Amino acid sequence: MCGIVGYIGNQKAAPILLAGLTKLEYRGYDSAGIAVMENGEIKVQKDKGRVSNLYDIKEIDDLKGTIGIAHTRWATHGVPSKVNSHPHMDCKDEFAVVHNGIIENYIELKKELENEGYNFKSETDTEVIPNLINYYYSKDNNNDELRIVRAVKLATERLIGSFAIEVLSKENPDIMVVVRKDSPLVIGKGVKENYIASDIPAILSYTKDFYLLENFEFAMLSRNSIRFFDKDLKEFKKKANTITWNAMDADKNGYDDYMLKEIHEQPTAIRETIGTRVNKGICKFDELGFTKEYLSSLNQIYLIACGTAMHAGLAVKSTIERMSKVHVEVDIASEFRYRDPLVNEKTLCIFITQSGETADTIAALKLCKEKNAKTIAVTNVIGSSITREADFAIYTHAGPEIAVASTKAYTSQITLLVLLSIYFAQVLESVDKNELQQIIKEMLDLPNKVEKILKNTKKLKEIAKMMFKEKDVFYMGRGIDYATAQEASLKLKEISYIHSESYAAGELKHGTIALIEKGVNVIGIITDDNLVKKTVSNIEEIITRGAITTMIINEEIAKTLNTQIFTNVITVPATNQYLSSIVTVVPLQLLAYYIAKEKGLDVDKPRNLAKSVTVE
Ligand code: AGP
Ligand code: GLU
Repeated sequence: MCGIVGYIGNQKAAPILLAGLTKLEYRGYDSAGIAVMENGEIKVQKDKGRVSNLYDIKEIDDLKGTIGIAHTRWATHGVPSKVNSHPHMDCKDEFAVVHNGIIENYIELKKELENEGYNFKSETDTEVIPNLINYYYSKDNNNDELRIVRAVKLATERLIGSFAIEVLSKENPDIMVVVRKDSPLVIGKGVKENYIASDIPAILSYTKDFYLLENFEFAMLSRNSIRFFDKDLKEFKKKANTITWNAMDADKNGYDDYMLKEIHEQPTAIRETIGTRVNKGICKFDELGFTKEYLSSLNQIYLIACGTAMHAGLAVKSTIERMSKVHVEVDIASEFRYRDPLVNEKTLCIFITQSGETADTIAALKLCKEKNAKTIAVTNVIGSSITREADFAIYTHAGPEIAVASTKAYTSQITLLVLLSIYFAQVLESVDKNELQQIIKEMLDLPNKVEKILKNTKKLKEIAKMMFKEKDVFYMGRGIDYATAQEASLKLKEISYIHSESYAAGELKHGTIALIEKGVNVIGIITDDNLVKKTVSNIEEIITRGAITTMIINEEIAKTLNTQIFTNVITVPATNQYLSSIVTVVPLQLLAYYIAKEKGLDVDKPRNLAKSVTVE
C-alpha cells in the first residue's frame, strides 16, 4: 500500500528518487523519505507529510550520492511521524531498508532482537528488518560478495506477512539488494544504471525493460548488472519484459487530474480491451482453452473482488448467468475468504482486480486453489502478483490507472467480462448466435457512445454546483442499474467525502424511504425497458416526499417518459442491456469528480485511501 523506489547508476540519485515517489504517491502518502549512499555513509532524510515536503529539505539537494532508496508510506503500524517514516536503519547504522507490506510477527522478532542487544526507535513493524539483516550479517564470517544477500535471505525467511524491500548496506556501497513476498516490486533495466519501483509508471520514463520478481526471489543490483537468486540463493537468469506503455500514458496529458484523464480515456480503454478478442464475430480466449465438457460440468461461478472491481462483478453477474446457464455469485474477497465457501473442482473462480495486488483478493484466490477450483485473474497490470498465482490471467488494456478512484478499469473490466461471457456461450452453444452478434456489434460501438457522453458535461457541472454542499446523496436503480448505483455511490464517497448510499429501487419502501424528506438528493438510473414503470413509480414515491431527483436515463426510454417530473435529467445513448453499466456510469463518474472539485479536494489522492490495498 506504499510506494518504494530505488536507483543505482551514475546520476544523482535524489532527484530520480523524488520523481519516482511523486508518481507513486497514489499508493500512500502520509510520510516519505529517502536514503542515499554518500562517501561510505548512508544519509537518510525523511518526515511526516507528502512527498512534496521532501523537495523543501535543503540537505536532500546537497546529496550527491548515485545509489539510493525511497519510500512514500501508508502507515499500518505506528502513526505517521518522522521517526516512523521510512527508510529505517538498524540500530548500528549499517543497513537502510524501505518496506511495503506488513510484518505480522514483528513483536516476537523485536523481543528476540532486544535480547540480542538491539534497540528500536520507531513503533513500526518494518524496523525489525534492518536489525534482523544486521544480526545475520554480523554472524556470517564469510566476507564474500554474497554475504549481504545471505543476510537478507536469512532475515526475510523469519518474516511472516508481506513485504517488498530494498536494502542498502554501508559495507557494500555499490550494490542494492531487493526481495518481495506478496507486495509488488519491479526492476527497471537501464544502461549502466538500474531502477526499482512498486510499479511500472514510477520509472517508465527511464526504461521500458522490466524484470518481475517472484515471491522469495532475490536480486542484487550494481550499476552494470542485475543478478538473480532463488530462495536457496541459487543464481539464475531472468528474461526482461518490454512494456509497450509510454511515459505519456502514465502522465496527466494536460488534464487537471489523473481521474479526469482516465475518465476520458475510457473509449480508448474499452477499444483496447476488446482489441483482438473479437475476430469475425467470434470471441477468442485461446489462453483459456475451455471445452464444452468443462464448462458444462460447472456447478457455480464466483466473481470475487473488492471495491469497484466487485461492482464490476455485480454488473456482469446476470450476463454470465444467462450466457453460461451456470449460477453466478459475486462476493467481496475479504468476506469470501473467511466463510469457508463451497468451492470444488466444479467451481470456476474469477478474480477481478485492477492492480493485481489486492491482498484480500489474492488470499481468496489461494483459498480457491486449495479447494481445486480453476482460477482466472482479470487484471490491468501485466506481471502483477495475482497473475503469478492464478491458473489463467486475462487482461483489461486500460493502460496505467493512477487515480485512487477507479474509472476506466471498471468499464474495461465489464467489457472484458461480457466478452468472456460471450466466449462461454459460444463454447457451450447456449445462446442464439444472432443474439451474440448483436451484443458484439453494440460493444464495438460503445467507445463512440461514451465519447458522446464525454462531450456533453455542461449539465453535469451545473448539477455538481447544486449538490456539492450536500451531506447525503442516495443512488437507486433496479437490476443492472442497481449494480451501477453501487459503483456511483462509491465514487461519490471516496473522492467528495459526502455520505452516500445505493439502494435497489424496490427496497426503498422497506425502510430507507423514511430518510427521504424535502431537499434530499436522489440519483436514479433507468435503462431496462422491463423495469421502467416500476422504477418510475419508486421515483414518484420519493418526489411526493420532496426529494430532488437527478435521473440517468437512456435516450430511448426518456422519449417515453414525462421527464418534467424529475429535477434533473441526463440522457445517455441506449445500448444492449448487458452493456448499460458502461454507459450510465460515465456521467456518474463525472458528477462525482465535479462535486469533489467544487469542494476543492484532491481527487487523485483522497484522504485515508490508497490505490492498491496490499495489506489486509
Ligand atoms: C475504487 O475506486 C477504489 N480505489 C477501491 O475500491 C478499489 O476498487 C479496490 O481497492 C480494489 O482494487 P483492485 O481492483 O486493484 O483489486
Ligand atoms: N507496515 C509498514 C509501516 O507501517 C509499511 C506500510 C506501507 O506499506 O506503507 O510503516
